[in-house]
Amino acid sequence: MLIGNKIHHFNSIGSTSEYAKNIIGGSPEGTVVLAEQQTDGKGRSGKAWYSPAGGIWMSVILRPKALSLVPIAAAVAVCETLYTHGILAGIKWPNDILMNRKKVGGILTEIVGEHVVLGIGLNLTMRTFPSELRMIATSVALETNRHLDKKMIFELLCKHLDDCYIMLQRGRSSEILDQWRHYTILLGQNVIIDMIDRKISGKVLDIDRDGGLVIMQPDGKICCVISGVCRLPQLV
Ligand code: BTN
Repeated sequence: MLIGNKIHHFNSIGSTSEYAKNIIGGSPEGTVVLAEQQTDGKGRSGKAWYSPAGGIWMSVILRPKALSLVPIAAAVAVCETLYTHGILAGIKWPNDILMNRKKVGGILTEIVGEHVVLGIGLNLTMRTFPSELRMIATSVALETNRHLDKKMIFELLCKHLDDCYIMLQRGRSSEILDQWRHYTILLGQNVIIDMIDRKISGKVLDIDRDGGLVIMQPDGKICCVISGVCRLPQLV
């Protein structure tokens, strides 16, 4: 197995992704940095990522042939991992993992030369969140009342990541996209996409072969969005 061929395991670290970026030069592809807790976890859009004990906080060093579907494949791998235990999580484009409409996991991909550092956060056993996150974040334990073993879920996640990554590297991206379609909560939904300079709204039709979201705007025009933050108007 490529993913996890080498594992750096910390009790506490600033950010597994920052550490991974620092060791990228001397590390084989598939190296994982794993931490029990992060004191300076990074989320998308420069936000902080709440990472106390009780979650899976990991970063993987990859060297993909094509970048755009790496986060999509990672989101599928997280959902597959949970589904192995009968837990159905949903994906909000591009790669937020939701349960009961709250965020249970997130993915941050950062490009470093020809490498990608794939950061994955999964809220597994925590039962409380700071008040400012309570409306938008949750954990597997809170949603299912089950306490899944962290080591077992981590190992399963490495296996599913490995399967999905090999599919991508072998050009079998249509299979990843089909799995994404299976897990997403967005198909047929009306969404708003906040981009740097504007926002667009419309109904989600599909994901395209590069991971862009295909949307039909209210005037019937069809467009493909490649980056931005997706909101469901009915979600907080
Ligand atoms: C998001 O904002 O949705 C992405 C969150 C990514 C968090 C993970 S936790 C492991 C890795 N290390 C970090 O500092 N961030 C990512």
